[in-house]
Amino acid sequence: MHNYPYLANRAKGYIKYKLERFRSKLSDNQQQEMMIPFAVGLSDKDIENLTIYMNEFVPEDSKNRYDDSFHTHGHGGS
Ligand code: HEM
Repeated sequence: MHNYPYLANRAKGYIKYKLERFRSKLSDNQQQEMMIPFAVGLSDKDIENLTIYMNEFVPEDSKNRYDDSFHTHGHGGS
């Protein structure tokens, strides 16, 4: 089985472009044809929301990097 693509933090323009193409029943390879039935029902607003969601998505294992309550201790050396 072909791998599923990694979508988090991908460029918004790219995700939007792909979803609009899938919605128009266009795909670049056979794996991507699977996306067409999911995309045909999407509105422009849906595509915009999905695009923002995927672009800003923070995977569970890197949440610390975005946690504003996280502090280091000491003065940091130099
Ligand atoms: C919110 C739901 C989903 C969104 C927003 C989404 C979005 C995308 C996007 C943007 C791509 C293009 C990626 C690229 O060109 O690298 C893609 C490809 C693909 N998606 Fe989805 N997808 C969704 C759900 C699903 C589901 C439910 C499946 C399968 C059950 C699926 C299977 C695939 C496959 C097989 C590809 C092609 C991978 C490849 O070309 O290598 N997607 N999807």
